Amino acid sequence: MLNNNYVCIVGGAGHVGAPLGIALSSKGHKVILIDKNKKNIQKINSGKIPFIEEGCDKLLKKMILKEKIFATDNLKEVTRCKYVIICLGTPVNKNFNPDLKNFINFFYKLKNYLEKKHIVIIRSSIYPGVCDKVFKIIRNKCKNLSYCPERIAQGKSLVELPKLSQIISGKNIKAKSESAKLFKKICKKIIHTELKEAELIKLFSNAYRYINFSIANEFYMMCKSEGLDFFKIRNLMKDNYKRNTNMPSAGFTAGPCLLKDTMQLSSFYNHKFSLGFSAMKINEGLPKFIFKKLSEKYNLKRKTVGVLGLSFKAENDDIRDSLSVKLLNYLKLKKIKTLQSDEFYKDKNNVDKKVLAKKSDIIIVSTPHKAYKNIKIGKNKVLVDLWGIIEKK
Ligand SMILES: NC(=O)c1ccc[n+]([C@@H]2O[C@H](COP(=O)([O-])OP(=O)(O)OC[C@H]3O[C@@H](n4cnc5c(N)ncnc54)[C@H](O)[C@@H]3O)[C@@H](O)[C@H]2O)c1
Repeated sequence: MLNNNYVCIVGGAGHVGAPLGIALSSKGHKVILIDKNKKNIQKINSGKIPFIEEGCDKLLKKMILKEKIFATDNLKEVTRCKYVIICLGTPVNKNFNPDLKNFINFFYKLKNYLEKKHIVIIRSSIYPGVCDKVFKIIRNKCKNLSYCPERIAQGKSLVELPKLSQIISGKNIKAKSESAKLFKKICKKIIHTELKEAELIKLFSNAYRYINFSIANEFYMMCKSEGLDFFKIRNLMKDNYKRNTNMPSAGFTAGPCLLKDTMQLSSFYNHKFSLGFSAMKINEGLPKFIFKKLSEKYNLKRKTVGVLGLSFKAENDDIRDSLSVKLLNYLKLKKIKTLQSDEFYKDKNNVDKKVLAKKSDIIIVSTPHKAYKNIKIGKNKVLVDLWGIIEKK
C-alpha cells in the first residue's frame, strides 16, 4: 500500500539521487534509494556516500540512525512509496544522439509497480520530448508525471538545493502540485513552467555554460599561440570594466553533464546548433592543443610529463569524461613518459603531488585542486598552468 510520506529514488545511489534522498529524509520523509549498483548500495547502508558530496556523509549517518533512509536494489519498493523520483543517467551515443534505450526501457519495468495515486517525477536531464514518450508508456497505470530538473553543481548538492529555484512542470495539475509540495521542503522557490520549457531550461543552462567556457578556452589558445599571458590579459580586461567581469577562466571543461547536454540540445535541433559544435571542438580540443604546443618546443620523448589533477573538476573525485584523463591517455598513446597525481581520485598509478613536481620535467596543472595553489615548482621545470591557479612568487 502507498504511504504518503514515502519517497523512492531510482538511481538513488548516484550523484544526483543520493544527495536528494538525504535532503528529503532530513525533512521527515522516509526515503528508499533504489539502485542496481550493489557495491554503492552497501556503502550507503553503512553510512558512507560513494563519492565526494559536501556534508552528505554526516547527514546520511544521522538519517540512517533515525531509520529515515536506506538503499536497495529491489524495484518492488516502489509499491510502498507515493513519490517515485527518477535520477537515471541519460547518455549520448558516439554520434552525439541521446542513447535513450536504458532510460525508456526502465519505464516499461516501472509500469508494473505503478498505480493511479503515484507521483512519478523525472529528475534526470532529458532530451526534449522524452516526458511525452514516458507518459505514453505509463499513462494506463498512472497519469501523474512531472519533470523537475536538477541544476546543482556536483559536489555541492546540500549547499545549493536550499538556495536554488526549483523548476516544476508536469502532465497534470496533481503531478505539478504534489511535486511542488515535495520540493518546497528542500528548495528556496518553486517556478512553474510548461514541460518542454522545463526540458529546454535545463539543456540551455548547461549549453550556455559550456559555450561560455569555450570562449575563454579559445582566447587562451590564441594567447598561447602568440606567446602571450591569457591570465594577465583577462585580469586587465576585467579591471574596472563591469561588462567583462563574468568572463570565466580557461581550463578543461569536462564532466558528465555540460558536453552531453549541449549535444542533447544539438540533436534536438537536428545538429544545426553551430555554437554548441564550435564549443565542443574548442573544449575537447584543448588537451591536443597543449600537447601540440609542447611538442613544438620540446622533444617530449626525452621528457617526463606530470599531469597534476585527474578529476573533471576541483575538490572532487569524479573522473567521468575528464579531459585531464584524456590528456594523460593521449600522452601515453604517444609513448611519452608520464606521472599522474590527484588529491581526491584514488588510483594505483598516482604519485604524491610533491613527487610529481620533483620528478617531472613538464608539469601540467590539469585540475585546479586548491592543494596545488602553493606547490613549489623548480625554476628548471616547464609549467603549464592551464587554470592560472599557481601563485606567482
Ligand atoms: N551529476 C550531476 O551533477 C548532475 C547534475 C544535474 C543533472 N544531472 C543528470 O542527472 C542524471 C543522473 O546523473 P548522475 O550524475 O547522478 O548519474 P550517476 O551515474 O551518478 O547515477 C545514476 C545511477 O543510476 C543507477 N542505475 C542505472 N540504471 C539503473 C536501473 N535500471 N535501475 C536502478 N538503478 C540504475 C546507476 O547504478 C547509478 O547509481 C543524468 O541525466 C544527468 O545528466 C546530473
